Amino acid sequence: MFQDTDHPQLPFPPHTRWDVEGGKEAGIYTWFKEIDEELENGWVLSGSQKMLMLGGYSYLGLNKHPEISDSAIEAIKKFGTGMSGSRFLAGTTHLHARLEQKIAQLHQKDDALIYSSGYLANVSSIACLLGKNDYIVCDKSNHASILDGARYSQAKLIRYPHNDLNRLAEILQELPHSSRRLVITDGVFSMSGKVADIPEIARICRKHQALLMVDECHSMFVLGERGGGICDYFGMNPDDIDIIMATLSKSIPAAGGYITASEKVINYLRHESRGFIYSIALSSAMAATALKGLEVFSRERGPLVAKLRSNTELFTKTLKARGIETGNSATSITPIFVGNPIKAAVAARQCHEQGLYIHAVFPPVVPKDKAILRASITASHQEDDLRVAAGKIADIINGLNDSDLPEISGFNF
Ligand SMILES: Cc1ncc(COP(=O)(O)O)c(C=O)c1O
Repeated sequence: MFQDTDHPQLPFPPHTRWDVEGGKEAGIYTWFKEIDEELENGWVLSGSQKMLMLGGYSYLGLNKHPEISDSAIEAIKKFGTGMSGSRFLAGTTHLHARLEQKIAQLHQKDDALIYSSGYLANVSSIACLLGKNDYIVCDKSNHASILDGARYSQAKLIRYPHNDLNRLAEILQELPHSSRRLVITDGVFSMSGKVADIPEIARICRKHQALLMVDECHSMFVLGERGGGICDYFGMNPDDIDIIMATLSKSIPAAGGYITASEKVINYLRHESRGFIYSIALSSAMAATALKGLEVFSRERGPLVAKLRSNTELFTKTLKARGIETGNSATSITPIFVGNPIKAAVAARQCHEQGLYIHAVFPPVVPKDKAILRASITASHQEDDLRVAAGKIADIINGLNDSDLPEISGFNF
């Protein structure tokens, strides 16, 4: 067996980019905290501690919705727990086919394709839509799965500074005339909650004959008056965005990711996308969950989105009143600025001690010296709980001085 000590210069596996052991020793490693049960109103049980979940993605609070949970149980009774193959072979049930139709209808597109996760949807679609002589132009703050898909495609990857649309236009202008080019951006950026200026990006794409793909993982089902995502928010025509990707694992409490686009694009992906063809189908339980989730969303979207918005406003207002900076998120993603990464890590630990399940996010995921606690509010949170939580977070951050932070050697981010 190849041991670390055999080759001190070439350790295997290589060192992690941050000092996990150092963080654990300093008592500021708060990740992978186990949850034993999901309770009501955004509370969870972790061991014997009841904690308010402020780091989850169930934006509309639909996880454990009885009707949705029952649909998963029904599907398991009918199809069992496993899938016996990829969608291409034995893994397509009528639930998958119906789910794809519903998604396409929701986005007013021709067709849709579901993958077993959002990550896979991005990687596997982007990887085969473009090739060696093509160009992928991406916002620097896009999700890792977009970057991974772009690298996997072998297309030339060009990244523009976050939200710098002048630079985007310049890049497209400079590309060889006859080249195929795809611009990809998150609709809402997952760390800041900021919304990309998609109408302007679409205009630039049209001008420079580029196709546009938007990742709607954090915008679909929550952004816009009725949660219809980017098109709803900006009043855009669905045809202005060529390819939409989103997840079924956040507001819709299932798993899986999807691509929705023209019949030609989806038909191509269905027959060429390796992560779709060579991987197990989304489980029928999750397909049923997502279908029922879409039904509940369609029925209750107005009030759910309104509640999500008012809960978020209450939370940020309470933090701001206590002098805490929260940026200008367009959604319930609430970046709580701390600055120094060690301070953010200590704040996260103190939050955990006080029953708040929340995590710190460090550079390079956020800009240098801009470490945050990242909260995401849901429609199921109770107003009083949010007031108390915001007060506790403000007390913790305001009570921490840089000079009091532990000296941690080697805990670099
Ligand atoms: C912007 C964005 N894209 C893609 C994904 C991947 O989605 P999934 O969790 O369904 O794999 C995520 C997940 O957090 C995301 O935030």
